[in-house]
Amino acid sequence: MKAIVLVGGQGSRLRPITYDVPKAMVPLRNRPFMGYMFDFLKAGGLSGAVLSLGYLPDPIQSYFDGQDLEGFSIDYAVEDRPLGTAGGIKNAEGYLDGGPLVVVNGDVLSGANLREAIEAHEASGALATIVLTSVEDPTAYGLVEVDHDMKVRRFLEKPAADEVTTNLVNAGIYVMEPEVLARIPAGREVSIEREIFPRLQAEGLLGAYVSSSYWRDIGTPRSYLAASQDVLSGAVGAGEGFEFLEVDPSTGRAKGVKILPPVSVAAGCVLGRSATIGGRSALGRGCVVGEGAVVEGSILFDGAEVEPGAVVRGSIIGPNARVGQDAIVRGLSVLGAGCVVGEGNVLDQGVRINPGVVLPPRSMSF
Ligand code: GDD
Ligand code: MG
Repeated sequence: MKAIVLVGGQGSRLRPITYDVPKAMVPLRNRPFMGYMFDFLKAGGLSGAVLSLGYLPDPIQSYFDGQDLEGFSIDYAVEDRPLGTAGGIKNAEGYLDGGPLVVVNGDVLSGANLREAIEAHEASGALATIVLTSVEDPTAYGLVEVDHDMKVRRFLEKPAADEVTTNLVNAGIYVMEPEVLARIPAGREVSIEREIFPRLQAEGLLGAYVSSSYWRDIGTPRSYLAASQDVLSGAVGAGEGFEFLEVDPSTGRAKGVKILPPVSVAAGCVLGRSATIGGRSALGRGCVVGEGAVVEGSILFDGAEVEPGAVVRGSIIGPNARVGQDAIVRGLSVLGAGCVVGEGNVLDQGVRINPGVVLPPRSMSF
């Protein structure tokens, strides 16, 4: 059985990071998200995947092209314009073998038991089975009401607050019969959540499987940062030989550097005198943290630089971005690739700075 992985979206809620790095390739503990997805599919016993691509396909393709996948097949179906979640499945149809298949949203980090979901689907006689997970606030997801016999009673994408009747939502993981593909019109944008699932539900053909395992959609700065911290602390995605302290031996460390696990420091980083790399942070390749600077609970992409005396807390610093001397970047701020936060600025409250922007010294405060 193969999977279709939907990775064609623009990742707009994760901008400005996704202007340069597709959502599927953002690092978690210095490994691209797709690596975890691949582990998940292999653990489910699948034999291969078709990646349904659109936006920024090249980095995703080259990640897989350079790897020994131990017999797991990878194919690419690239859209020339966005076809939506069902359109993206339809576009990948030519790479399938005509049997049942798994479909996953390419931005969900999950510890669900995929084998068990497949078995539940096979036993149910449904045309499609949706894996469900429970969340605190279903309004950002597809709300799913189920009957006692695990048939879907209602599927409502992005419900308004007063429409919330359950905490169970679509986890973005489906098992389906090939007949579902025949129901997706070709050549236009089609949403599986808004068109196909409500129709299957109305015919009594949509089943559900509830998972209580770890699950998170990494599509916003808050959830991406949380996912990164969860992977660093081993709550999900921990492979063999997992260590809380993962510091590449090439790291340059001056005197008095404090490294508080869990942390991951990739190759070629330089940590200045008395710098603090705090718990649940990940530093990509070639990052520089200056004297006395503090990085805590944050993600630094490759080549990011934190100058002396600066503080980065609970934030995401894009590739080659620079945080100037004594600046403070906190509160889920997100810096795009190559931007420069001049000396003494204070960034807070989820502020987002676009790629390449240069903030003059002391021009922002909170
Ligand atoms: N190929 C292709 N083409 N893929 C697409 C397209 C497209 O036009 N649009 C979106 N995708 C991919 C995205 O890259 C992502 O991996 C996945 O489809 C889901 O899109 P999101 O934009 O992340 O959707 P969402 O998070 O708002 O909602 C979806 O996921 C939730 C679970 O995380 C829905 O399926 C919800 O029902 C669900 O609860
Ligand atoms: Mg999503």
